Amino acid sequence: MSGPPGFVDPLLAWKTQFGREIERVAATDIYMGKIGELPVTPFVEKAQIEALASEFAVREGDVWLVTALKSGTTLTQEILKFLLGQTASDNPLQAVPWLEVSARVPMIGLPISVANSIPSTNGHRFWKSHWLPRDHLAPNGGKSKFIYVARNGLDVCVSFFHHIRGFPLYEYAGDLNDFFEKFMDDGRTLDFGSWWEHVGAWWRRRNDADVLFLFFEDLVREPRANIAKIAAFVGIELDAARLDLIVHETSFEQMKKRPLFYDLVRLPDATPFLRKGVAGEGKAVLSADQVRRFEDKCKAFFVGDLSDFPWQRAASN
Ligand code: A3P
Repeated sequence: MSGPPGFVDPLLAWKTQFGREIERVAATDIYMGKIGELPVTPFVEKAQIEALASEFAVREGDVWLVTALKSGTTLTQEILKFLLGQTASDNPLQAVPWLEVSARVPMIGLPISVANSIPSTNGHRFWKSHWLPRDHLAPNGGKSKFIYVARNGLDVCVSFFHHIRGFPLYEYAGDLNDFFEKFMDDGRTLDFGSWWEHVGAWWRRRNDADVLFLFFEDLVREPRANIAKIAAFVGIELDAARLDLIVHETSFEQMKKRPLFYDLVRLPDATPFLRKGVAGEGKAVLSADQVRRFEDKCKAFFVGDLSDFPWQRAASN
């Protein structure tokens, strides 16, 4: 169905074996898991979440990269990979593991006991998370830091639509208009719930000393300054040559040249995981009415803070 001949999609293999066990979001045309009231990617499993909360041994120097889906997670994983001293050919998904994935999923799932045994590199370990801040899974204990990356929700919506259509795991056949309604419906059916709540909750934490709040748009437009900001926050010194190298290697063009695991498990006719990498697409492809509804919801939700969002700055220029 996908990947090179003979390749077994580990996500579908997992789903056939264990997917029936997950608690699913009520009747919907999208295959989505559920933990408590939160819709989650189908391979995020309750047992793993519980193990993460109770068994994960937080260490000084741990940094969590937290995002709502489609906001520049993989790009930031690439940046962090280089900060660990790794090279272009290293796998960003292994450099910054996503511990919320069921340990039973081949290739990307990691038992917490194994995560605990991963050595720090120069005093650092990096982890990826899509969880909400109010009850972040990582026991913090004042030891971890958090990098949050946010992106214009309209662009997230369009990118998310292509993401979900391309992974057979979700079994989704709707169109962009249908998906937009799911996105607007406070994400009651989409991975990790409401985009507004996710961004809003971390935005309220943006001035805390343990949080670096970044925007995808800034990362793409001013990579040098923002990569330097990440390095300084994490506590890694970079000389100019290393910074230049990271800027070059994490550009969309360079990243496109390297194989990414996700593309092996997407449908043959799907858009690639690194699809366009631009800012402002949502406004161009969604209708004027959809854009207005999105913006009205932002005004109601992000009270008073809107002008601080870069896509909002661009709109009011
Ligand atoms: P598009 O679908 O709009 O192209 P995530 O990793 O959080 O799932 O986000 C994926 C989005 O980030 C995709 O957006 C992808 O193309 C974009 N992206 C990844 N690396 C990028 C880079 N180096 N420069 C610009 N965009 C990048």
